[in-house]
Amino acid sequence: MNITVKNIKNGLKGTITIPPDKSISHRAVMFSALTGGKTKITNFSKGADCISTLNIIQQLGCDVKFIDENNLIIIAPNKLITPTQVLNCGNSGTTMRLISGILATQNFESTLIGDASLSKRPMKRIIEPLELMGAQICHNDYRAPLKIFGKKLQPINYKSKLASAQVKSCILLAGLNTKGETTFEEPFKSRNHSELMLEYLGAEILSIGNKVSIKKSILQPKNLSIPGDISSAAFFIAAASIVPNSDIIVKNVGLNPTRTGIIDILQKMGANIEILNKKIECLEEIGDIRIKTSELNGAEIKAEIIPRLIDELPIIAVLASQANGKTIVKDAQDLRNKESDRISCLVKELTKIGINITETEDGFIIEGKTSIKGDAEVECYHDHRLAMSLYVAGLIAKKPITIKEFHWVDISFPEFLSLMEKIKI
Ligand code: S3P
Repeated sequence: MNITVKNIKNGLKGTITIPPDKSISHRAVMFSALTGGKTKITNFSKGADCISTLNIIQQLGCDVKFIDENNLIIIAPNKLITPTQVLNCGNSGTTMRLISGILATQNFESTLIGDASLSKRPMKRIIEPLELMGAQICHNDYRAPLKIFGKKLQPINYKSKLASAQVKSCILLAGLNTKGETTFEEPFKSRNHSELMLEYLGAEILSIGNKVSIKKSILQPKNLSIPGDISSAAFFIAAASIVPNSDIIVKNVGLNPTRTGIIDILQKMGANIEILNKKIECLEEIGDIRIKTSELNGAEIKAEIIPRLIDELPIIAVLASQANGKTIVKDAQDLRNKESDRISCLVKELTKIGINITETEDGFIIEGKTSIKGDAEVECYHDHRLAMSLYVAGLIAKKPITIKEFHWVDISFPEFLSLMEKIKI
């Protein structure tokens, strides 16, 4: 599906509720599958990625029943069962990397496959530490398909060069079913949803700074509720910041401090942003975000904040194009390993619509403030976040932008267009 986005004259206004957090939804179904009991999950993400995870836990013996649109019950078997077919992770790196940690300690063999994009993404980052624990995995030059010969593993003390929640979660999940204590340390703290949910479900887990250790534990079934996804909210927060005369409230957004780098950077850039109604559910912080249009200034984005806003960097590039002065993003090399090479693809497409952006090895530099000319047909490279970032750029472009294959937004945010329509006045 190609779509054409036009300039918005009168601003974005109103209150919206953003769909459930993708990262937390993946974890909720995977961890429920390990409890041997019944879990009710409230507000589960129905994006294609989380459906891939849900399909896989069914193949591993879980019974899944939707009560209504986003609420479901999972009944887990006492022990996961041997899958009779390959497990398809679709486009989802989180599914493949996290489930590998679970499968590596089972007493059966399983094979994980993914779509064309996922089959090109690096899996060495999980294969290496799992192998250090004694895991046996066949791979295609450290890429999917992965054939995992489950067995008993040994604990490790692993110092990762990469700050990655997917790698950390994979190793914690392997450690959860391994006698002894497994420790994972990363250079900067990545999102800690796994640690919080494992603790909530009764695991023996301890986090100190960038280091987390886990002991073999039995998870208790407990109902889980999932907040709105700050990474999806980011497109609306950004749009309201740069579309003139906007004032919106995004309700029930996850505000876990390991995910709120986008809010910190926006505040540093001068955004008019307010957090309301803060509360905690299932150990996760939640709140409403009010955002009004404002004048922005460029910022330097590097080092420890990168993992806290890694998925928001494409939309931050659009924001930076409307900020006065230079925005420099560095230490974000791993952006090249996402659903697309998010550095080179972003630079190529934003250049087409008139944004002054330069590619660097580990990020990009944007000179603002630019008047986005639009009047172009752009690609999203099968990448949902590039598609939505280009859409937001279209809202302020002088002439319309046509985005090819926009249906890739369904990976994380099938409701994107209908919510956008709701706040256009
Ligand atoms: C995720 C972690 C991040 C992020 C991805 C989701 C997760 O990846 O980019 O969209 O749910 O753990 P990395 O761990 O590879 O940085």
